[in-house]
Amino acid sequence: MILVFGGNGQLGQELTRASAARATPLVGLCHAEADIADHGAVSSAINRHGPSLVVNAAAYTKVDLAETEIEVVRQANEVGPAAIADACAAAGVPLIHISTDYVFDGSKRGPYVEGDPIAPINNYGRSKAAGERAVREKTSLHVIIRTSWVYGEFGQNFLKTMLRLAATRDELRVVADQRGCPTSTSDLAGAILRIAPQLLGGGKIWGTYHFVGAGVTTWHEFASRIVAAQAPLTGRAPRVTAITTAEFPTPARRPMNSELDCSLFERVFGFRGRPWTEETDRITRALASAAVKREPHVA
Ligand SMILES: NC(=O)c1ccc[n+]([C@@H]2O[C@H](COP(=O)([O-])OP(=O)(O)OC[C@H]3O[C@@H](n4cnc5c(N)ncnc54)[C@H](OP(=O)(O)O)[C@@H]3O)[C@@H](O)[C@H]2O)c1
Repeated sequence: MILVFGGNGQLGQELTRASAARATPLVGLCHAEADIADHGAVSSAINRHGPSLVVNAAAYTKVDLAETEIEVVRQANEVGPAAIADACAAAGVPLIHISTDYVFDGSKRGPYVEGDPIAPINNYGRSKAAGERAVREKTSLHVIIRTSWVYGEFGQNFLKTMLRLAATRDELRVVADQRGCPTSTSDLAGAILRIAPQLLGGGKIWGTYHFVGAGVTTWHEFASRIVAAQAPLTGRAPRVTAITTAEFPTPARRPMNSELDCSLFERVFGFRGRPWTEETDRITRALASAAVKREPHVA
């Protein structure tokens, strides 16, 4: 059985759905059921459920608010992973911990590999880097998966924001000078469930990996793809205007280049992420057609 912390997040909910489709036993615990920063709550959840594998999908992910909510962020992204890794080590259970492209500063010209030096430029990235360190220190039976630009049908994400704005605005102004790899939660959840048996099979494949959707893009191109995919269903075709990061100041700085190289993951586990374009089209159509069914007068 797989035990998931952060069961109510975008990835957590997708893991629940994907495990049901594959008949893989999985229990997801939401924040109210287990605060990962509470060592006792984490240990007792692991002892109660007796999992063969733990997945930490819990995190504080509001990148701009993370600049000021320093202690809440530290509890979720550093103290929490440390508590989970500690409890996993005590129980002899392997851990998959999810991390982020934002541990890098974005100054590299090409895609980042796992061994590149980390140098986060915002507090979210610093807290996630500290979480990675804690996991490595506390348990050798870990796989850390760095992913990026996560979107899907559940929770809050960029794709859903673009759909909401496309429904009411005639122009969307979107940053075109940050590069990265959109990753669907269904692709990521599928990857986690696919590698689980390999981890439990005793292969010496512990360590840090990058896993993202195939292809690299900008937020502007990502938004344009979303708008184009929803237009035939909603009848809405707002203009998508490219702007610079300087024209859209945010409390937290973002890396200009977030591209992650996934060849190590592919070599070890034998597969790679699906193209972001296909996943974006599929998920946009699913969400847009559900919205049109709910509110047919909008189309
Ligand atoms: N979203 C992205 O674009 C992105 C990019 C790169 C990497 N990642 C990583 O991918 C993983 C999954 O992210 P996601 O997008 O699924 O995040 P999400 O939708 O924000 O979900 C995170 C979940 O963690 C829960 N949580 C927060 N603090 C907690 C605590 N102290 N104890 C227990 N649960 C807590 C939240 O519950 P409440 O809301 O109730 O607090 C929420 O349900 C995270 O590790 C994230 O850092 C995400």
